[in-house]
Amino acid sequence: ERIAGRNSVLLPGFVDMHTHLREPGREDTETIASGSAAAALGGYTAVFAMANTDPVADNSTVTDNVYRTGREVGLVDVHPVGAVTVGLQGKQLAEMGMMAAGAAKVKMFSDDGKCVDDPLLMRRALEYAKGLDVLIAQHAEEPRLTVGALAHDGPTASRLGLAGWPRAAEESIVVRDALLARDAGTRVHICHASTEGTVELVKWAKAQGISITAEVTPHHLLLTDARLETYDPVNKVNPPLREERDNLALRRGLADGTIDCVATDHAPHAAQEKCCEFSVARPGMLGLETALSIVVETMVNTGLLDWRGVAKVMSERPAQIVGLTDQGRPIAVGEPANLTVVDAEASWTVTADDLASLSRNTPYADMTLPATIRATVLRGAVTAYEGSVRR
Ligand code: NCD
Ligand code: ZN
Ligand code: ZN
Ligand code: ZN
Repeated sequence: ERIAGRNSVLLPGFVDMHTHLREPGREDTETIASGSAAAALGGYTAVFAMANTDPVADNSTVTDNVYRTGREVGLVDVHPVGAVTVGLQGKQLAEMGMMAAGAAKVKMFSDDGKCVDDPLLMRRALEYAKGLDVLIAQHAEEPRLTVGALAHDGPTASRLGLAGWPRAAEESIVVRDALLARDAGTRVHICHASTEGTVELVKWAKAQGISITAEVTPHHLLLTDARLETYDPVNKVNPPLREERDNLALRRGLADGTIDCVATDHAPHAAQEKCCEFSVARPGMLGLETALSIVVETMVNTGLLDWRGVAKVMSERPAQIVGLTDQGRPIAVGEPANLTVVDAEASWTVTADDLASLSRNTPYADMTLPATIRATVLRGAVTAYEGSVRR
């Protein structure tokens, strides 16, 4: 089958460490099938499905079901992320060992979308994770520093009376958990780094020899809080859109390896959860189908990364961090391939209704973006080709 064409760039299949599929619980906003289609169209061959589903993925029944459903759909490898604690406001550690030992072989646990604010609980989680050799991914918010449910910060947000999630809420957790990981002798991963200060702190921690890694989302590379002017709830996200100096620090950090990888934090929400007043709208934006284009816009077209660098931040580093052995590396002769073919010269205009996601909350609607995914190949089979999913 001929899938390459002019201007094609061949990359290892992308690995997303941070995706919210809404199954079980909110299948009206995303299912494992619809999210897998979005992932394949975005060039992904593996995604890590966050644990804040309903019921929460805090036991092996849920994690094994998510894994099996992902396999049945067959468009992308769906690796469930386990919850660190039991329930949504958990005060008790989940049985991470049971999830790690189940069919899904859970490799990563997180408090994303269900914050663990108790430092002693996080310390015990890191110690437990060390024994299991699994990764803890930290949502990085100190909720006692966050005002109400307003996921916003920065000059525009303050002027509009929306300041909600200050830099200190993120950075204090980055420091705290870097030190906890140091003392526990284990690793910690920072989800959706969003501030200049976080980049500096991660750099500092790495220089101390602490096993810390960090991801950045496409929207925190590109968008700023200037968007809040319109009060459009599509721009409401955790952590909030910040300032240009943050975009630039995150881009530099991604280019120099301080920030390890790009993760989408794809967070589908129903129209009725995104049309209401800003303060009550749900936080989160779609990301899977636009991620590569935003990385090209912010990192390649600015000269900060070449295509080798794109392979690293979209595929190789995330696969290494989570310990996927079948992704993000060169393909041996005769081995079924996980890869993505990009049309580097093409551009496209985002139409929310045309996305494969069941939700419409893209912040890039009507924007023209560079680069398209020509084809995605999972274990030798084409999963997406020229904008259509192959089943
Ligand atoms: C996430 C979601 O919708 O599940 N939203 C987001 O804005 N990133 C959860 C969260 O991180 O708050
Ligand atoms: Zn989060
Ligand atoms: Zn947290
Ligand atoms: Zn998230």
